[in-house]
Amino acid sequence: MSSLQNAATPRVCAEPEVKVPVLSVRAIDKRFKTKSGDEIHALNKISVDLADGEFVSVLGPSGCGKTTLLKILAGIVPPSGGTLLYRGTAISGPQAGMGVVFQSSVLLPWWTVLDNVLLPIRVLKLDLTSYRQKARELLRLVGLEGFENSYPGELSGGMQQRAAIVRGLIHDPGILLMDEPFGALDAMTRERMNVELQRIWLSTRKTVFFITHSVSEAVFLSDRVLVMSARPGSLVENVRVSFPRPRNADLMSTAEFGDLTRHLRHVLGGSGAVHD
Ligand SMILES: Nc1ncnc2c1ncn2[C@@H]1O[C@H](COP(=O)(O)OP(=O)(O)OP(=O)(O)O)[C@@H](O)[C@H]1O
Ligand SMILES: [Mg+2]
Repeated sequence: MSSLQNAATPRVCAEPEVKVPVLSVRAIDKRFKTKSGDEIHALNKISVDLADGEFVSVLGPSGCGKTTLLKILAGIVPPSGGTLLYRGTAISGPQAGMGVVFQSSVLLPWWTVLDNVLLPIRVLKLDLTSYRQKARELLRLVGLEGFENSYPGELSGGMQQRAAIVRGLIHDPGILLMDEPFGALDAMTRERMNVELQRIWLSTRKTVFFITHSVSEAVFLSDRVLVMSARPGSLVENVRVSFPRPRNADLMSTAEFGDLTRHLRHVLGGSGAVHD
């Protein structure tokens, strides 16, 4: 076949496989009533789809509604409008398919690391005995082997956050919701935790919804970065990050990484936020 004929022949491309998103957020709106009777419009018609196994970060100015959005996804706070679909089915209230990691690790100080990690198993009334072994394996995965019977006060901040991540993963949720999990850590520990989280993500392939104030952390970790406007929070940017994995800290000094973080800082600057 000549190249001319080739060019004239319509190309038959395989249709990309259309997957049902693992989580669909449709026109989510949130208004709070304060004690003084005022209304706070926190979220304005947020719509986003999370694909299975995707790592999505959210950046946005303080008070724009990031934590509120995460709590709505987790089923802890009801939306004022809109719908949430989990694998195509409308949901309300907490789901066993989701794990949550908050900014401060909120481990119970009078419980051992192992008992803290097993908290979701107690809450979900699953069989504790069969999850003990899994807890030990996950603690080993994050480098906390030997600390199972320690108390949170005996661990460093980074170790506590790793235990909190294990607690978010223990019941094998399809989706991990993380609210600034490394916000309280020093820069070096945070960088190590980013590499650690990437390693855990590569070996578990959870769908991750990750809130951060750090542009470089968002770009380093994510398949996609979303940016929210100031309150009422709406989505103003949605950028795909396609650097190959595994990524290491050297990526952060490349021109491409710099271009992307500069663009995101510019978008954030337009929303009045100052980010590192
Ligand atoms: N329970 C509540 N009652 C009233 N207002 C609330 C409540 N929770 C949050 N808000 C308000 O909603 C807005 C969004 O708060 P949210 O905590 O979601 O912001 P955020 O983006 O997570 O901020 P930060 O980056 O500082 O953590 C804020 O104005 C906050 O005061
Ligand atoms: Mg918050």
